[in-house]
Parts: sequence; structure tokens; C-alpha cells
Amino acid sequence: MCGIFAVVNDMSGDASQTVLTGLKKLEYRGYDSWGIAIKPGKSTPGVSLQIEKHVGKIGAATTNLPKGDIAIGHTRWATHGGVTDDNAHPHLDCSGKIAVIHNGIVENYLDIKEELIQKNHKFISETDTEIIAHLIEEKSKTISLADAVFETFNQLVGSNAIVVLDLTTETIIACRDGSPLVVGIDEKNNQFFLGSDVPAFLKFTNKVHFLEDGEGVIVSKKEIKLVMMRSSHIYLPKKIRWQILDWKHEDAEKDGYPHFLLKEIMEQKNTIAKTISINEKEIKEISNLIGKGYKTTFIGCGTASYCALAGKYFFANVGVESQIYGAYEYLPFSKFVNEKSMVVAISQSGETADTLIAVKVAKKKGAKIVAIVNSRGSTLERLADIVLSVGAGPEIAVVSTKAFTAQLSTIYLLSKAISNEYEKGKNEIKNLSDSLTNWMNGKLTDQIITLAKELMNEEHIYLIGKHLNYPAALEFALKLKESSYLHAEPFAAGELKHGVITLIQKGTPCFVLASNDDIKGEILSSAAELSARGGKIIGVAPFESQEFDLNIKTPDLGELTIFVNIIVGQLLGYYLGVGRGADPDKPRNLAKSVTVK
Ligand code: F6R
Repeated sequence: MCGIFAVVNDMSGDASQTVLTGLKKLEYRGYDSWGIAIKPGKSTPGVSLQIEKHVGKIGAATTNLPKGDIAIGHTRWATHGGVTDDNAHPHLDCSGKIAVIHNGIVENYLDIKEELIQKNHKFISETDTEIIAHLIEEKSKTISLADAVFETFNQLVGSNAIVVLDLTTETIIACRDGSPLVVGIDEKNNQFFLGSDVPAFLKFTNKVHFLEDGEGVIVSKKEIKLVMMRSSHIYLPKKIRWQILDWKHEDAEKDGYPHFLLKEIMEQKNTIAKTISINEKEIKEISNLIGKGYKTTFIGCGTASYCALAGKYFFANVGVESQIYGAYEYLPFSKFVNEKSMVVAISQSGETADTLIAVKVAKKKGAKIVAIVNSRGSTLERLADIVLSVGAGPEIAVVSTKAFTAQLSTIYLLSKAISNEYEKGKNEIKNLSDSLTNWMNGKLTDQIITLAKELMNEEHIYLIGKHLNYPAALEFALKLKESSYLHAEPFAAGELKHGVITLIQKGTPCFVLASNDDIKGEILSSAAELSARGGKIIGVAPFESQEFDLNIKTPDLGELTIFVNIIVGQLLGYYLGVGRGADPDKPRNLAKSVTVK
């Protein structure tokens, strides 16, 4: 959940500036506070580490830290200890020579802290992280720093990644188990980078190695050494297998848009179409397995779980039964897994803790694991037997948009492959993409801004959808809630009469999501019922109706109409958020990748 960034041999000689800029690219991972530690000067013995830490967002921050070419930095999403300067990372040992930044939770930190207090270590923060600095200090009294770091790391219980800056050796040592960490190399300028995500250093290099669980790196001014941490005192050197990513520096920039969220919504004109030209081999492999009797269970969290639910409808439409679970509710049902189970895990980040836990359980029981994932080099990718990499590029806004539609498009293509209509599916997705190019224009934006102004001061909004438009309503509502903090509650249209209708009063805004399909009449009846109770009906559909007080007309795309209906929710959430003073890229209390249970 936190953002980590570090540089060694910073070519500008102003490593704290480089780290600050990199952290701004990672702020989507946590924005309660931020901090940087630098070793000032170039190889000047005796100087001490300098640290700057602040509560709040890093957006417009500047730093007065001295120059130097080796530094680490962190953006925090608080877990242990409130949002204070003291609790912000980096944390120091007693000597002030070892600085630590951390992503994860040290489950056994209280026991370790107790022991360290007995040994006279002084603690400044309430965090679990600070014990790591002191434990390394304690161990490094008798063993080398690298040994001390790896031995300390092996003692931590939980999913963690740490980066340690050592003043004495001018070295950064980092390791991971369960939380993401990637190392980058800019060979031309001899610069080394570490990040919890690639966008932090994409400006300098796209040559990376994603650390695996149990791997550590020792980054000195001379070289990067990769090791496998086996147990205390024993770590085995490993050859780094660098990979070149096809991501460009511009992918992690706003490109003239006021916010990443708007940029990423607009990018869907291209990202959805990209799914046509990738994954063909894997899609065919999966559809063959389903043909051989493998039973599909979709899992995911939040937006990804709504993608999973839409997938269940797509599968049903081609005659294949499947199950879906929010990954956090999967465990009681994992007892039904066997060698003919196929668990399809959907995730933008590939690092969501609940999803990974569910996948590990299913894998242990013999299920085939399919990952539908956007980020590269993720833990989920490594756990999976088959990876459908959806290729939407870096998604920086916390609110997921382009990754979701790329995942949904991939599942649609899979459903079409199952019914031997893969080529037809590809044409339909191409047609969807062309429609987006024509439809997502100034006229649509104006209409949505006008609607956002009308809804700006509402307290409650309700939404209904039926069949495929039910997951669409769930996703639409989530976009409104996340982006604008407005209470938006979605229901299956059929649920209305069973209680929900009590909530509707004169003027209550009710969105009705529909497609031009054979259940259109039923959803319009539900709209009429809402209208009869005074609800203000806003239709999001490819047709007009007298039941609608207002209508956002979407392109008529058959089953794929849900894509455009959802995009209305993405845009409306964005403009409502801007109007209501929320930060559309970094909604309060949320982090982009939820790496804790
Ligand atoms: C919503 C959103 C979250 C994520 C959820 C799962 O806009 O972004 O609901 O979808 O936290 O994250 P991933 O997809 O990374 O597993």
C-alpha cells in the first residue's frame, strides 16, 4: 500500500530531488505522509544521514535536503500508528546510520520491540517499521550489514518489502516477501533504482527486474547483486534476468490532462482495442480447458469483483456455468476445489492480499490458476499457470477505469473463444473501440458536466440494472462513491420491490442502466415503479424512453453496451469529484494496491 523509491549514483547529484519526483509518481500507493533519507555529499566519511518527513500529500512538496547521490523515500498509507511526522518513514536506528522504509505489516513487531527495549533501544514512532532499523542495528554488531538485513527480514512475520540505506557502507539493501519491489538499471549513466512500482523510475529506464519472494538485492555504487535469502547468514547469489518493458515514460505522465483519472478514462478508446491483439494463445488454451470440463470460478476484489460478476454473465450467455466470489469471502468455499477447478483471479495490481491468499489456497488444492492482470511482474502473475496480461499500461489514478475495461474485454473475448466465435468477438471489440472514439467527445462531456452540476449537492443516489447491467450498476456506483464521496447505492432491478423502494422519495436521483435487449421492457417497468414514488429517473441506455426524466444516450452495442454505460459512471464520478472538491486521483482513505488483509 505504501510507495517505495530509492536511487544509487543519482546522476544529477541531487538524489533527494530525484526521489521526491519519483515518489510523486507513486503517491497513488499511499498519501498520508512522505519522507526521504539521503546520505549527503559524495563519499564524505563521517557525515550523517539527513531525513525530512511530512504529513500530507506530496503533490506540491519541495525538499531542502542537501545534495548527494544516494537516497531512499516513501509515501505512507498508515497501518500501525497514526498519521504523524514521527510515524512517517524513513525510520532510523539509535545510531542514525541505518534508515529503513517499508511496505507491509510486521505481524510480530510487538514481541521484537519488547526484546529491543530490553536491550536499551529507543523508539520514536508507534510504527511496526521502526523495529526493523533497530533489529538490523542490533544484529550488525556481530555480523555484516547484509547478513543483518537478511536475518532481520527472515525474522519478520507477514507480507513485507523493505529498503535499507546504510551510511557507513553507502549501500542500499532491499528484500521482499509478499510485497512488491522492482529494481531498475540505467546502464548508460550507471544509475540504479528501486521502487514498489515501475512508474517511479520509468523516466530513467525501462530495464527492470521484479524481485521474487525471498529475493534480496545489495546495491552499492559499483554494482547490483541479487541474492536468494534462504535462512539466517546464508544467501545465495543469483543472476539477474533483466527485462525490457514496453512502457514509455509518457505512460506515467498526465499528458496535458488535469488528472490521471480523466486521462485514463479517455485512454480506453485505445486500451480496450489492444486486447484484441494479445493473449490469443492463452485464451485458446483456457477455452480448451473449459471444453475438457474444467469448472471456472472468478475471484477479485472491488472493481475486479464486478468484472468477475460481468464475466459470469458473459460465460452464461455462451452456455458455460461459472461461480464468482469476492476473494475475501472465498475461503469457506475453497473446500470444493479439485484438480478440475480453474480459478480465474482478476486484479489490476496483481498484489491484492485477499486475492493472493485465495489463489494460494486454490493452487494448493490443485486448481489451475488463471490471472487476468494489468500490472507487470506481479505476485499474481508468478502464481498463475496461465496469464492474460491485459496491457492497459500503468494505471496511476487510484480509481480503476482502463484496467477494468481491458479485463472485461479480455473475459468477453474468452467467452467468445469458448463458443467458437473468437473472430466475431474481436470484431465486436473493435467496433466498441471505434464507437468510443466517436462517442467520447465534447458533447458527451458537456452533458455529463451538466448532470454533475445538478447532482452535486445530493446526498443519496440509487442505481438499478438487470442481468449484465447489474454488475454495470455496481461498478458505476463504486466510481461515484470513490471519486466524489457521494452515497451511491446500486441494486439489481428485481430487488426493488423487496425492500429498497422505501428509500425512494420525491426527487431522489435514480439511475437506470439498460441495454437494447429482450429485458428492456422489464427494466423500464422498474423505472416506472421508481418514478411512481417520485424518483427522478436518469436513463443510461442506447434508447430514449418516456420513463426517463433525463437520458444519457449510449451507443447500442448489444452485450457490450455495459462498457459504455459504465464509462458514463466513470466520467460522472470524475466531474462530480472535481465539483465536490475531492482529489479524483487520490480519493481519501484509499490506496491503489491493497497489499494487506
Ligand atoms: C476501484 C478499485 C478497487 C480495486 C480493488 C482490487 O476503483 O480500484 O476496488 O479494484 O482494490 O484491486 P486490484 O484490481 O489491484 O486487485
